[in-house]
Amino acid sequence: MRIMVTGRNGQVGWELRRALAPLGEVVAFDRHEADLSKPETLASVIASVQPQVIVNAAAYTAVDKAEEEEGLAHRINADAVGVIAEAARKQHALLVHYSTDYVFDGASKNPYREDDPIAPLNAYGRTKLAGERAIEATGGDWLTLRTTWVFGLRGRNFLRTIMRIARERDTLRVVADQIGAPTSARMISDLTAHVVAHAQRERREGKFEPGVFNMTAAGETSWHGFADAIVATARELQGDVIKAAVVEPITSDAYPTPARRPQYSILDNEKFDRRFGLARMDWRQGLALTIDDLAAQ
Ligand SMILES: NC(=O)c1ccc[n+]([C@@H]2O[C@H](COP(=O)([O-])OP(=O)(O)OC[C@H]3O[C@@H](n4cnc5c(N)ncnc54)[C@H](OP(=O)(O)O)[C@@H]3O)[C@@H](O)[C@H]2O)c1
Repeated sequence: MRIMVTGRNGQVGWELRRALAPLGEVVAFDRHEADLSKPETLASVIASVQPQVIVNAAAYTAVDKAEEEEGLAHRINADAVGVIAEAARKQHALLVHYSTDYVFDGASKNPYREDDPIAPLNAYGRTKLAGERAIEATGGDWLTLRTTWVFGLRGRNFLRTIMRIARERDTLRVVADQIGAPTSARMISDLTAHVVAHAQRERREGKFEPGVFNMTAAGETSWHGFADAIVATARELQGDVIKAAVVEPITSDAYPTPARRPQYSILDNEKFDRRFGLARMDWRQGLALTIDDLAAQ
């Protein structure tokens, strides 16, 4: 089986190269080799690879910057996704794509199910929703996996930012009124590999159904709770370099950002669990494993 991956240097893309390797030949592209800001170039790239599976891990993910660059974000997160979906359909390839809790407004008090009403609060969320719709409109064999609060060993992410500033400052002030499930990029890619294997079996048996699935870590916390856990774990492992003694909770109002963010980002994973029968780690376990890896580096 040949699997094409986009966004090979992203948090998830980088982990996918390892996780998908046991399934077959992984052909992974960076933004220069498969540039989603130039959707018109993608069909020929995909035709040259002739993949049986495409995993689209490339995305415009700069949530605040997207407020100023919604056109570019839309090209990458929606127009290009439509082109990839069309190429996948034509070549009878399975398309696995990622989306986000930011398609919801976060006003709910209960975990969001896949078909709950969507209402993105910001430009990034609008473009990711448009990407979901472009895939649905194209048809073919596709799976869209919505995930949340991704962190990992690479790239710009909350874990690495907190680890850095915990070495520089005595006190960290972190938003405590946004709730989510921090999900490790490694768990996302490991689950994705199992999903691909499962879906390919279903396709061979003529039992495959396309769909949107929530796929996040188990458990929940706030950004403050997440930061507190990161600092506590980092102190255990690297006590001598950690300066931060206090992680102070603040409200979102005290930390204004260009893009509004949902206050409640918990997704109900029941549909994913039922279809794929996989165990999703609690966010604390994913954090401990990731920090172990960082410490080993
Ligand atoms: N990060 C989160 O908290 C989060 C939450 C929910 C859902 N998601 C979704 O999960 C998926 C994976 O996200 P991630 O966290 O791995 O994102 P990431 O670390 O920001 O990686 C995104 C990748 O996309 C690439 N990219 C950006 N513009 C591109 C372009 N024009 N053409 C080709 N590639 C381009 C980046 O390339 P460079 O390496 O060259 O910059 C990077 O490798 C995305 O669909 C994202 O929307 C993420």
